Amino acid sequence: MGTQSHAPVEQADANAGWSSRLAFILAAAGSAVGLGNVWKFPYITGENGGGAFVLVYLVCIAVIGLPILAAEIMLGRRGKANPVQVFVKLGEEEQISTNWQGIGWMGLLCSFFILSFYSVVAGWALVYLWHSISGQFSLQPSDATGLAERIGGLFDSLLANPGLLLAGHTLVMMATIFIVARGIRGGVEKAVRIMVPGLLLIIFGLVVYAAASTGEFGNAVSFMFNPDFSKLTWNAVLIALGHAFFTLSVGMCAMMAYGSFLDRSVNIGKAAFAIAGLDTLIALMAGLAIFPIVFAHQLTPGEGPGLVFVTLPIAFTEVPGGTFVSIFFFLFLAMAALTSSISMLEPLVEYMEYRCNWSRPRTAIVTGTIIWVLGIGCALAFNLWSGFTPFGKNLFDLFDWLTQSILLPMGGMLISIYAGWILSRKAIAREMEGGTAITFSVWIFLMRFIAPLAIALVLVNSLFPGLFS
Ligand code: TRP
Repeated sequence: MGTQSHAPVEQADANAGWSSRLAFILAAAGSAVGLGNVWKFPYITGENGGGAFVLVYLVCIAVIGLPILAAEIMLGRRGKANPVQVFVKLGEEEQISTNWQGIGWMGLLCSFFILSFYSVVAGWALVYLWHSISGQFSLQPSDATGLAERIGGLFDSLLANPGLLLAGHTLVMMATIFIVARGIRGGVEKAVRIMVPGLLLIIFGLVVYAAASTGEFGNAVSFMFNPDFSKLTWNAVLIALGHAFFTLSVGMCAMMAYGSFLDRSVNIGKAAFAIAGLDTLIALMAGLAIFPIVFAHQLTPGEGPGLVFVTLPIAFTEVPGGTFVSIFFFLFLAMAALTSSISMLEPLVEYMEYRCNWSRPRTAIVTGTIIWVLGIGCALAFNLWSGFTPFGKNLFDLFDWLTQSILLPMGGMLISIYAGWILSRKAIAREMEGGTAITFSVWIFLMRFIAPLAIALVLVNSLFPGLFS
């Protein structure tokens, strides 16, 4: 390919776009539903006392996450380009500074970092799927005395095993690259059409199982929905807000990238509602599947990150049909992670395709491989490289902190400022038509005032931990 072939890539054409509104909603919901819903949401709910935390989380989703989600999709569709080019094009068309492309750059950077550690955790799910299939979560003779030790030991030995961690990480990245390389219609869309309905089906089955077999369903429901505000701290509010971002995949231009392939005829407000609704539904169902099983074994819900990798497997071992249930659970976790990881690679590929004029498969392989290398660092942070701690954190924790506590909130804040204050209402109204005048005004109000302020609080709290506790 000669150097003269720098004609701008027509992105909508290169990918032919989503074949339908449903395809887009499934893909975006697939992006939103991930480790955040199944691994993180239940454990932070457990750590922060249940009902009151859930309530605050729901408010954060509705008041801050949802409006920014709509804004991201809107910007993507308006610009019909990769996350950097969106701001360049809009800047030129609307005569505003093109420096706002910094938001796009930050989003791309964030995708790099998040995907590199996300893929490692998704790899854990694969390893656990294997453990389930091979019967680790059925009772063994030695368990009479040391069940908790055996299951806890599985997790510790996974983290201490570089080969196993790398195998999981590599498989996840290979699957991600494979899907993204095939494009929006041929890859992402085909994958989510199978996996997202699959996710709904499995989680529904797990909730029914938990309700029918444990006798603790009522307790789980009251734990999650009976708010006890005495358990709520300021810090918990900020965790809920930060998680509202993470779980909707907003703040790093991933939804913008998906939105850039969206047809003009789709009502963005309604689509965003559907996406946030599906995401919330699956998070709540994950809680309703996990807590009854945990309660039934007198285990505690506040175990932290080990909840689904240690506490839950201990419980699985003791419930009837546990092996079977655990297979479905970890299959669910792995699929949820994969439909998210593809949407982290997508914006990078969209950008590199434009920038380098490479074919999509080549772009996907090159960018995916770079992330894979970065992810090796995250996997080894648990063992061989645990001594390497720049800024006092190992690489895994550093990437996690940098993205979730800093880059995502910053991205979200800048997107809300851009959509609320910088772009003219006229420029936005064309994309947001179809809604009522009132919803439009409410949306603008949230983008202008509530979102930036609330996010500023989260940021301050991450930079100066302890200030609000
Ligand atoms: N929403 C995903 C989850 O809940 C995580 C996530 C955050 C994400 N940002 C993203 C996924 C961007 C895809 C793209 O697990």
